[in-house]
Amino acid sequence: MNIPYILLTPPVPRDLALELPLDPFSLEILLVGLFLLHILFVNLMVGGAILTVFFELLGRLSARYDRLAREIGKTITVNKSLAVVLGVGPLLCISLLYTAWFYAANGLTGNGWILIVPLVILAFLFSYAHKYTWERWTGRAKQHHIVLGAASAILFMSIPFIFLANINLMLFPDRWTEVSGFFSSLQIGNVFPRYFHFLTASIAITGLFLSGWFSRKNFPMERVMPTFTRPEVRRMFYKLAFWATVAQVAFGPLLFVTLPSVGITFELLAVILTGVALAAIILAMMWKEVTSADHRIGRLYWPIVAAFTVLVVFMATGRHVYREASIDDHRQLVVDRTDKFQAVELATLMRIEAGLGVGQATATGPTGESVFKNCAACHAVDKVLAAPSLREVYSIYADNPSGIVDWAKDPGVKRPEFAPMPSFAHLGDEQLELVAEYMLEVGAPEGQDSGSDGESM
Ligand code: HEC
Repeated sequence: MNIPYILLTPPVPRDLALELPLDPFSLEILLVGLFLLHILFVNLMVGGAILTVFFELLGRLSARYDRLAREIGKTITVNKSLAVVLGVGPLLCISLLYTAWFYAANGLTGNGWILIVPLVILAFLFSYAHKYTWERWTGRAKQHHIVLGAASAILFMSIPFIFLANINLMLFPDRWTEVSGFFSSLQIGNVFPRYFHFLTASIAITGLFLSGWFSRKNFPMERVMPTFTRPEVRRMFYKLAFWATVAQVAFGPLLFVTLPSVGITFELLAVILTGVALAAIILAMMWKEVTSADHRIGRLYWPIVAAFTVLVVFMATGRHVYREASIDDHRQLVVDRTDKFQAVELATLMRIEAGLGVGQATATGPTGESVFKNCAACHAVDKVLAAPSLREVYSIYADNPSGIVDWAKDPGVKRPEFAPMPSFAHLGDEQLELVAEYMLEVGAPEGQDSGSDGESM
């Protein structure tokens, strides 16, 4: 049986010989930029959902927190809509730039990946239901209301988790053969640390956001949350952002050590260390705000937001650099494999045009002639198809058949005018020895080329 060699060594997918609609660099800039916008609202959505449940629970002890929870809850649905709309851009960029990797990861995470669609729908329904039943589900129904909120928060938290597992898997083609289905993709080292990092980032960013949101001039604090003062709310959310950032910085090293080392470069280290330095500055500024007097609090808000933005851009760039480095080798492999595939395709077409047929399986055991069908797509006796002729092979290997075997197992690159020859190691020594003898027999110059007649079926 002639199994095309392209099928013998997964999991390298073929490249697509299509042009990108934009040069790769612009696409990468777009990817990082759009992703940041998207993830900002994802963070606010997830952080908002978690904090709403948290304060609604606290509201069981003291009613003022229930008012606060309700106000936070109002932001979730808006942020969720923005997160989803802004998710389209990065998804398109990633499927253009990393087509083979992205779709391979999608396929491998299978049902888990597809589950995102119903989960998103459910999460939306729950979050709207939670928002619009707040005034109605009071008293004894309050418990149900909290459960509804918790369910929507859990759904909102699970969607990024699936995404993350998928995007993470994309970076490790060498582990694809171990993965089948969503749960097995979670074994790949750093899914959980990355997720924890994401969750704490969500809390930090939402804390910072709410600290500004509730302090805005046209927010009717006195009417909506009369038992709170503006500086008090501001301070509370600053503290939250502060401690969540501390958790992130503390957790950073764990994330780093669980990253497979393939993509770790000096550039990446530099980016991360700069990020840590920036985080330290941000922490100092936040702490200054937390400890400052009521009438002074809020002065550093915009500088903190600006520093945070720089930090996040830095981290996203680092992430991208890591991604590029970690798939670099594999990308080269895909390009080579595609070249080889195209060489065989071309040679086969040429053979068909020359009326030579494509070779069939033999019923009896292999003979030199039958094994040669694997080679005949490219090698002919006198003609140069996609490779040197057998005359030339003979002139090099006349007394050295085992040289042919070695070459066929691990072909080198000698002649720039041809695409590289694929390896035939899978045929095994025995068959390669047969074919080597055969090649020398028919390639010999003394008119012994009668063997080639057998081929012109
Ligand atoms: C897809 C096309 C293709 C197929 C199929 C193919 N070859 Fe080749 N072969 C090449 C090309 C191209 C070269 C020249 C490579 C170079 O010099 O860079 C080559 C060169 C060789 C050489 C010369 C090596 C040298 O030292 O110059 C030998 C021997 C050889 N092939 C054996 C085989 C055998 C045996 C088979 C079948 C088992 C086979 N080839 C199948 C494309 C092919």
